[in-house]
Amino acid sequence: NSIEQQLEALQDFQVIAHRGASGHAPEHTLPAWQLAHDMGADYLELDIQMTADGRLVVFHDETIDRTTNGEGPLRDYTLAELQSLDAGSWFNQANPNHARSDFEGTRVVTLDEVIDRFGTQTRYYIETKSAERDPTLEAELMDTLSERGLIEAGAVVIQSFSQESLREVESINPDVPLVQLVWYYPESEDSDTLIEWTGVTPGPGTITDADFETIREYAVGIGSNLNYQGDAVIDEAFVKQAQANDLRVHVYTINDIPAMEQLIDWGVDGIFTDFPDRLVRLTR
Ligand code: G3P
Ligand code: CA
Repeated sequence: NSIEQQLEALQDFQVIAHRGASGHAPEHTLPAWQLAHDMGADYLELDIQMTADGRLVVFHDETIDRTTNGEGPLRDYTLAELQSLDAGSWFNQANPNHARSDFEGTRVVTLDEVIDRFGTQTRYYIETKSAERDPTLEAELMDTLSERGLIEAGAVVIQSFSQESLREVESINPDVPLVQLVWYYPESEDSDTLIEWTGVTPGPGTITDADFETIREYAVGIGSNLNYQGDAVIDEAFVKQAQANDLRVHVYTINDIPAMEQLIDWGVDGIFTDFPDRLVRLTR
C-alpha cells in the first residue's frame, strides 16, 4: 500500500468504536466488540499490551484494578491468570442502565481472539499502549497482523502517542497506515496548554507546520483530544492546518451528540466514540 492508497482508504469519515462499544458493554471485551460491529462501526479501537508471558492482550489501563476483579500491574500476570478474572461485572455496577447478566464473567481477550471473531469483516485501529515497557511489542504485533493477512487487506491502522513506537512499526512494515496521537492539557490551572506527542517531553501548546511535516514523514493522520476537563483544546483551525499538511484528523473520545456535530462541521475525518450507534446515526 503506497501512502496515497493509505490516505485514500481513510478518505471517508470513520466511525471508530473506542474500546468497542464501551458505553454499552464492558470495554475491550467480546460483547463490546460485537456490539460495535453490529452497530456499523468502521473500526474497532483496541489498546494492546503484553502479559508477563509475552502474549498480546487488548486492555487499556496499566493496572487491572478498574476493569477486573483482580489488582496490580497487568504485566505481572500471565495470560492464564488474567483470563481467570471477571472483566465484566464492574461495568454492571458502574452502569446500571446498561447492565446485562451476560457481561458477568466475560474475560480479558487476546488480540488473536478478537481477530478470530471478526477476521476481515471489520477493521482494527490498534494502539501500541505499553511500547516503552515492552520493547518487543511492535514486532509481536506486526507478526500477528501479517500472519493473518490483515495488513494486505487494508484492515489495520496503528496509532500511538509514542513517535518511537510508530517509527518502529514503519521500519518493520512501511505499508501500514499510522496515526500519531497527541494529548493537549494545561500544565496547571494558570499556565499555558501543553501538547505531548512523543511520549517523552511535553512541548508548548501548538503544533507548527514543521511538527506536522515531521509527523507526515511516517504517519497519514493525527489523533487528538478535543477537550480537557470540559474545555476545548483544539479548534477548526487546528483541523484545517493538519489537513493542509495532508494529514487525516481523528478526534477522541466524543460521546455527546452536539460535540460530534461540531466536529463534523469542522470537517474532521473520523471520531473515536464509546457510542458508535450515535455517530453512525449522525453520519449515514
Ligand atoms: O486512541 C485514542 C484514545 O483512545 C487515546 O486515549 O487513553 O483512551 O487510549 P485512551
Ligand atoms: Ca486508545
